[in-house]
Amino acid sequence: MSQIDLPKYTSLDELFSDMMQMTGDPLADTGMNVVISRGNPKARLLIVGEAPGPQENIQGKPFVGRAGQLLDKILEAGKFDPERDVFITNSVFRMPPGEGGKNFRKPTDKEIEYYRPYVNEIIRLVDALIVLLTGNVACQSILGKTGITSLRGQWTQLQGRWIMPIFHPSYLLRNPSKSPGSPKALMWDDIREARRKYDELIGE
Ligand code: URA
Repeated sequence: MSQIDLPKYTSLDELFSDMMQMTGDPLADTGMNVVISRGNPKARLLIVGEAPGPQENIQGKPFVGRAGQLLDKILEAGKFDPERDVFITNSVFRMPPGEGGKNFRKPTDKEIEYYRPYVNEIIRLVDALIVLLTGNVACQSILGKTGITSLRGQWTQLQGRWIMPIFHPSYLLRNPSKSPGSPKALMWDDIREARRKYDELIGE
């Protein structure tokens, strides 16, 4: 699928109202809700996740299920208030419905590609200084590459923003060990590094 061309929106409200009726949306026929964001649209820190899950589909907000509760804890460990200091969105804006007894699945390349211009427009309008990409789908959407184990914890500068991939909280739920070098221990290093960069750039 070739990438859609979006107009340059002047406000998030205008963008979000168009996103409620996206044309050509590959997940439009699933009957799933459009789930876009939560948090502070003026935040300097933006988190990009993967796609809504069942809880997010019901509540209409990203990261409100188990992975979201863990994400909030991680943010709080970095002394970020999830409602005041952070804006949270996803790479895909409807839950990809599951097959074979599962209620959701990973987004396809085509789905990631379709929603990418919307994600980029959200990033541009929020104008955060720091963007954390949780997991491979967000890396694929924004950086055009995957390999979270080697990408995590590394800063990239993109259009004046500081971008860092981090593990997806769902991955930490599946790997709960806190021993040195475990995904959870690395996540704690990464959120501390995000805090350090935030203080350096913003001087809290
Ligand atoms: N996982 C995500 O990546 N996004 C959500 O909104 C929920 C779970």
